[in-house]
Amino acid sequence: MAYDFDLVMERRGTSCVKWDGLIDRYGAKDLLPFWVADMDFAVAEPIQKAIIERVQHPIYGYTQVAPSVFEAIISWLERRHGWHVQPEWIDFTTGVVNALNLIIYTYTLPGDKILVQPPVYAPFFNAVLNNGRQVVYNPLVRTDNSYIMDLDDLESKIDARTRMLILCNPHNPVGRVWSRPELQRLAEICLRHDLLMVSDEIHSDFIYAGHKHVPLASLSSEIAENTITCMAPSKTFNLAGLATSFVVISNRRLRKLFCNTLQNVGVNNALLGVTALEAAYRYGEDWLEELLVYLKGNRDFMQEFLERQVPGIEMREPEGTHLAWLDCRGLAVEENSLQDFFIKNARIVVNDGQWFGPNGKGFIRFNIGCPRPLLREGLCRMERAVKESSEVSTGRV
Ligand SMILES: Cc1ncc(COP(=O)(O)O)c(C=O)c1O
Repeated sequence: MAYDFDLVMERRGTSCVKWDGLIDRYGAKDLLPFWVADMDFAVAEPIQKAIIERVQHPIYGYTQVAPSVFEAIISWLERRHGWHVQPEWIDFTTGVVNALNLIIYTYTLPGDKILVQPPVYAPFFNAVLNNGRQVVYNPLVRTDNSYIMDLDDLESKIDARTRMLILCNPHNPVGRVWSRPELQRLAEICLRHDLLMVSDEIHSDFIYAGHKHVPLASLSSEIAENTITCMAPSKTFNLAGLATSFVVISNRRLRKLFCNTLQNVGVNNALLGVTALEAAYRYGEDWLEELLVYLKGNRDFMQEFLERQVPGIEMREPEGTHLAWLDCRGLAVEENSLQDFFIKNARIVVNDGQWFGPNGKGFIRFNIGCPRPLLREGLCRMERAVKESSEVSTGRV
């Protein structure tokens, strides 16, 4: 391997939410963070080089996006996902959550209904509620070895007020990489009921062997005409602090509406974000390939560890993302306080499943985007905490 993903870098003192935010929030220095979904890895060298080069010119004014940036995105989408996109379909936003809010604001009215599929990244339903729209939950169904969509439930919940579906593709937190037939069936329902489809594909570059990311809008031109895709290099290349993402809208009418919103609310391009994006998509592929091998190693390591050492916690192999969705219902722990339990007893911070919606109760999300020594330490802390708590609950102290 050319890159040392095992290297543990000190991030405290770099204003990062994941580590410094722990101290602000919990006032403790000994906690290990497996919550916020960024990674504890240095970026690919060409990205840092491009940023340094740009920073050396000491004027950081308003930024326009050069044609070469559009070319880099188009080539990436073509190479990685077989998706053909035109430059004029792309608009920049300062984050995918930013884009989701602007999309809801642009295409729906207060009181309209918007479908989401929990357990799902909480800003999906918060963006709906914060904009005064109504959330309609179409819960995913847990099967023996996976999660699937309940399309009958979805269709039964659509009425005259329902305008939009927000899809997470691949899905945070359950790790599904939705297959072509699944997406096809979902899209058919949305088309039949004239729902706008919003596909958040921010995790689309984290796909493990045996799976393939299918951009929803690549399924057919009819689906593309009713779809807005949100993407970013921020998860893939660990650039979240550079606040740069983009949307792809092939429908000219929809695009015009979105551009009006961007202008009205004054969204500017992030100079260093755009610089990093271009370098990442042009020169970051080798780094990503190695990262994917490393993350798969983390995933497998964690799964074996839990199976062997912590049988009360069940992990289903994620098909994509650097997130593990762990079923803790087998533990002797009060389910309402899983996050507190792990903070107090294991000194690790994970996301409580309930943050992802009501059917996340009893689960936690654990971010495996970190050097394996950190992952190992986190897992050992978990194991100790679980063993101690079961000794207490069985009176074997
Ligand atoms: C599905 C999903 N969408 C959006 C985001 C956040 O994107 P951004 O930082 O670009 O707002 C995340 C971050 O974890 C995510 O998992």
